[in-house]
Amino acid sequence: MTGKIISVCNMKGGVGKTTLVVSLAETLAAGGVGKRMKVLVIDLDAQAHASFCIAGDELLMQLFKEHRSLDFFFEDAVLDGRKKQLNEFIRESASSMTAGGEIISLALAPASERLRYVERSIIHKLTSTGTSFDGKRVRDLVANEIELLRNVFDVIIIDCPPGISIFTEAALWASDIVLAPVIMDKFSVLGLTTFCKHVLAAPRRHSAILPYVLANRVQPTNVAKRVLQALRAEAAAHDAGFRMLKTEIPQSATLVKAMACEDDAPTYALKYGNARQDLENLAREIVEIINADRPSGRPAVSGLRQATRPVRTETRGLP
Ligand SMILES: Nc1ncnc2c1ncn2[C@@H]1O[C@H](COP(=O)(O)OP(=O)(O)OP(=O)(O)O)[C@@H](O)[C@H]1O
Ligand SMILES: [Mg+2]
Repeated sequence: MTGKIISVCNMKGGVGKTTLVVSLAETLAAGGVGKRMKVLVIDLDAQAHASFCIAGDELLMQLFKEHRSLDFFFEDAVLDGRKKQLNEFIRESASSMTAGGEIISLALAPASERLRYVERSIIHKLTSTGTSFDGKRVRDLVANEIELLRNVFDVIIIDCPPGISIFTEAALWASDIVLAPVIMDKFSVLGLTTFCKHVLAAPRRHSAILPYVLANRVQPTNVAKRVLQALRAEAAAHDAGFRMLKTEIPQSATLVKAMACEDDAPTYALKYGNARQDLENLAREIVEIINADRPSGRPAVSGLRQATRPVRTETRGLP
């Protein structure tokens, strides 16, 4: 098994990153692309929404109590310099969702709110050593640990916080493909270009595939149509900073309800109802991209890469 690593991120908040992570993970694990996949979600966002949605309150509280959330991994491994493995923080069978009567194979490396403070302490520790801080230590730690998990999972999906934190940079470094959901309004699209410059400038370990943008919450309004048209035109340019996924996800009441994660033992079919077709199309498109020998998103070398200074974390220099 050689698992593929997907990061989901965007500079902008509230564009559907977590919705994409959870629904894609559950679609792949439920057999939405023809075979049931073994999926791991790594939650690098201190808001921990993906963790709550997948594991539910009760299991998550138990994991917090047992110090099995990722804040403890980073605290031990980076701040205290102890030898820790990421797999000690992975909960196998984290989800109670069933598909075709069987529990899906969905594992979780959960986040907690403490992750925010641990990140600040990491930055403080590394900057106060007097050496310039480029996040390399965290990046290498995360990438090396995730690399070991390729033998265990078919797909590893990382939910990143909004913006570009040291954790997001680490996720980008480790990934085979980067997905950026975007909603069809002017500000989201403005932020997207800046973000793609950062993504392009950020070091990547395995691949130089351009980030793929997903049009999310698409509505049949004139503004949405114009924004989407402009995005597709920009993505088609030979020196584009991103590619667009063909699949679009419409504004969907079913997805809003699904993300409320109210059902303790959901079935895949009931949870996603009329959103299934779009999710399965999306999952198929993504699987095709990550399985391609020479992914179509490989960039023509663009001026963007040379023109952009190396990425520095937004939080750099915080006490
Ligand atoms: N296709 C969709 N249709 C309707 N609502 C959606 C859709 N995608 C996401 N949402 C809603 O948009 C809101 C934000 O989604 P989500 O939490 O996934 O965004 P996010 O990018 O992860 O946010 P953050 O930056 O805070 O992590 C949620 O209420 C979610 O239910
Ligand atoms: Mg989120």
